[in-house]
Amino acid sequence: MCGIVAYVGDKQAAPIIIKGLKRLEYRGYDSAGIALLNGKLNVYKKQGKVADLEQVLDGKTLNSTIGIGHTRWATHGEPNDVNAHPHYSGSKNLALIHNGIIENYESLKKELISRGHTFDSDTDSEVLIHLIEDIRDNNDCTLGRAVRLAMQQVIGAYAIVVMDKDAPSQLIAARKGSPLVIGVGKGEFFLASDATPIIEYTNEVVYLDDYEIAVINEGELEVKSHKDVPKTPYIQTLEMELESIEKGGYEHFMLKEIFEQSRSIGDCLRGRIYPKDALIKLGGLRKHGNTIANANRIIIVACGTSWHAGLVAEYIFEELARIPVEVEYASEFRYRNPIINEGDVVFAISQSGETADTLAALELAKKKGAHIYGVCNVVGSSIARLTDAGVYTHAGPEIGVASTKAFTAQVTVLTLIALMIAKKRNSLSDEAIKELSRELESVPEKVAIALENAAEIEKISAVYKDAKNFLYLGRGYNFPVALEGALKLKEISYIHAEGYPAAEMKHGPIALIDEEMPVVVIATRDSSYDKVVSNIQEVKARKGKIIAVVTKGDALIPSMADHVIEVPDTHPVLMPLVSVIPLQFLSYYIAVMRGCNVDQPRNLAKSVTVE
Ligand code: AGP
Ligand code: GLU
Repeated sequence: MCGIVAYVGDKQAAPIIIKGLKRLEYRGYDSAGIALLNGKLNVYKKQGKVADLEQVLDGKTLNSTIGIGHTRWATHGEPNDVNAHPHYSGSKNLALIHNGIIENYESLKKELISRGHTFDSDTDSEVLIHLIEDIRDNNDCTLGRAVRLAMQQVIGAYAIVVMDKDAPSQLIAARKGSPLVIGVGKGEFFLASDATPIIEYTNEVVYLDDYEIAVINEGELEVKSHKDVPKTPYIQTLEMELESIEKGGYEHFMLKEIFEQSRSIGDCLRGRIYPKDALIKLGGLRKHGNTIANANRIIIVACGTSWHAGLVAEYIFEELARIPVEVEYASEFRYRNPIINEGDVVFAISQSGETADTLAALELAKKKGAHIYGVCNVVGSSIARLTDAGVYTHAGPEIGVASTKAFTAQVTVLTLIALMIAKKRNSLSDEAIKELSRELESVPEKVAIALENAAEIEKISAVYKDAKNFLYLGRGYNFPVALEGALKLKEISYIHAEGYPAAEMKHGPIALIDEEMPVVVIATRDSSYDKVVSNIQEVKARKGKIIAVVTKGDALIPSMADHVIEVPDTHPVLMPLVSVIPLQFLSYYIAVMRGCNVDQPRNLAKSVTVE
């Protein structure tokens, strides 16, 4: 993980870099640092948040129009001041920031030590800058060439930026497996892990590709391949608005993002659904509809919340499109020699598009001859670029570490894909497609109604904020929602929670139930409603506390549940989009009441670019 930011131009670099690091803090926040050129190459770094680094910088003269900065999520070496980036080279004439993992750092380090290098930190990253300097000094070559030769020796993932004390207008960057965006301004350049630190200065960006090296010098950008072949940088214009990455008056990004869902689902549907004609238009898959529709099976790979969206998709694809679907944790799939036949279709679901396990699973599937597609939120992300084609979720930047609006946007896109395939395979009549499409179009409105429950859920949260455990139960389409509700609570409030298919409770978890155990049951009206009502009674008989999410107007469950949260009725296939909303609120308010850092929960980072 880690966030990297760098600047070179005619403005003061420090404020731009610090502000950028704050925007990237969701990627890592155990330590932060900055290197600036003011007389000498000065590195300032500190364990903790970017705000702690700011205290270190307070009162110092930071006059520099070039700089590199980093906010870390440690992989090698504990989070402390020394292991924080940037790292100096041996002579202290060069400094480097790195995002990723250098897998062969131990052998490289041994070799460098045998040649007289000494190291300050326990990180893998520090090895890179020693290696670069070693190559430059021994070959008497430019820094650009040294970076290129060094990267040829490296195994692992990296996005790096290097600066040189003797080159006040030069930055050198390289990437393989970790993201790096270059913002192109007027005579100035911004480099960052994603576009959020850049967007307020310029919307012209270049996404560096794997095995590319960028040399920025004297206001010019030059991109070359690892093999020294010049490339013409492709400048894209971003449409992201600054407002969309700021909190907009909410106390936390997570709360803002929960409330955005009516709009984000609407954005995700816009221009893609035509109920009158039973038509679904997904531009990204235009040329691939037949390949997907003719697949013998579809495999979905993802992690965390995105995996839960994949599980919802399994139910939807099989019901609507009648294609067998397997949903796999990307991390398991990639290491178990899976059977993939030529022509199989693999979908990766990922908010960030950078999750290392998901990327690796896709690469494996591609190697084995599968068609690979992506459902990503971040435009231009690694997964989006690796896949044959895909669909963006258009949820807008998701900053809170706990995924909310990305989940509902993923489920929305996956429903559209299922409808598109159903039409091609004739597994649904046009009438049925029209009806479901109309219902899908009304989901943003229904989500808006579900969002009105916030204050009521805040009150319920106050009752259970000190609980030690939670159980979440759901069936059918609501089973993945139960898993998602439990994950949300775990990750931001640190309360142990488990999601279970409601009917499985009697095979084990029922033993946990006593008067101390809150049980969240998603009991909306569908074909398994009566069975879920029986499960509620089983919990009540053992004195468990029931918080039930029910369809508006339910007359039965209020008489047995301790708390009832109503959501508007919709087609069972679409219910996860609505029934997940109360669970997001519940986890949010409980976490706030427990004094937890909602947007940046401990030990987690927004995008897990390590295995
Ligand atoms: C969700 O709340 C989590 N923070 C996490 O499980 C996340 O969904 C997972 O790491 C996958 O991320 P991705 O969607 O960016 O690939
Ligand atoms: N491996 C580097 C470190 O531990 C960078 C970590 C990362 O990018 O997640 O410092």
